[in-house]
Amino acid sequence: MTLRSWLFVPGDSERKLGKADASGADVLILDLEDSVAAKAKPAARALVAGFLDAHSRPRPSQLWVRINPLDSGLALEDLIAIVPGRPDGVMIPKAGGPADVERLSHYLDALEAQHGVKAGAIRIVPVATETPAAPFQLGDYAKATLPRLAGLTWGAEDLATALGASTNLDETGRWALTFRMVRSLTLLGARAARVQAIDTLYVDFRDEEGLRTSCQAARAEGFTGRLAIHPAQVAVINAAFRPSADEIDFARQVVAAFDAHPSAGTVSLDGRMLDIPHLKQARQVLAAAGSSA
Ligand code: COA
Ligand code: MG
Repeated sequence: MTLRSWLFVPGDSERKLGKADASGADVLILDLEDSVAAKAKPAARALVAGFLDAHSRPRPSQLWVRINPLDSGLALEDLIAIVPGRPDGVMIPKAGGPADVERLSHYLDALEAQHGVKAGAIRIVPVATETPAAPFQLGDYAKATLPRLAGLTWGAEDLATALGASTNLDETGRWALTFRMVRSLTLLGARAARVQAIDTLYVDFRDEEGLRTSCQAARAEGFTGRLAIHPAQVAVINAAFRPSADEIDFARQVVAAFDAHPSAGTVSLDGRMLDIPHLKQARQVLAAAGSSA
């Protein structure tokens, strides 16, 4: 299933948690990390655990938790608090590479067994570009055996801080070169690992038109979803990452054309040559459409 919109909800805010259900997001990311001040971490853990408990399946949105970084000294307490509530997944901020996904996976193996959660049920998405070294490992996710890995996403704010950069934008307002580069590597790394490529958040949450244009461009490049910080961004993201009626119609025609010639590697449709990459692309469109039916 393609998960298009991933809405962060600060884990210490009862008010925002209370609004989250109505957002229509495919995923709520209940945040224990950067949107929660150090002093509020224990209270946020309790609130998030309570939220998970109060939302047994089927859930309107998948419920994920962004824990604190694995080397922060907080991550184990986060996991101990949330696994009993059976989150659908865990996001690791400032992930170093596949070894961090493996480490988290081992922790989850133990906690799932302890709490009677189906083994391997809790999925993982690392934020894979938030330290200067992490982008060098983006190609390695595909080489590792990571059955829990559901996607890769990237972040520009923490990376800028880690680099000592005063901005992550260039003079035209686009991502500066280093950030464009790690964004592309995230896309390549995710697709190589056959998981979702999730674009980073659009900071200006009042600029609906800018978000729409930016999401359409991201989808055209191969991203399948996007992080969100405000409920108003969800509908725009869901629509932009949903294939249009024309695309779905064309994809159906492509699949039908190949179905009619099961042993052919290339067929023609309305005078246009189609080969196997077109068929694969058509199937991806139909898979993405299926999630938004
Ligand atoms: N999840 C759930 N509800 C949210 C929300 C979110 N991420 N962001 C805003 N809301 C709610 C607000 O509580 C408000 O409802 P209320 O008036 O009943 O309180 C309503 O949506 C409209 O919000 P608005 O007034 O437009 O924004 P704001 O000034 O309250 O909040 C932010 C702006 C950026 C602080 C807020 O959107 C936010 O906290 N975003 C998430 C930040 C985050 O998690 N960052 C970490 C990842 S980088
Ligand atoms: Mg951060």
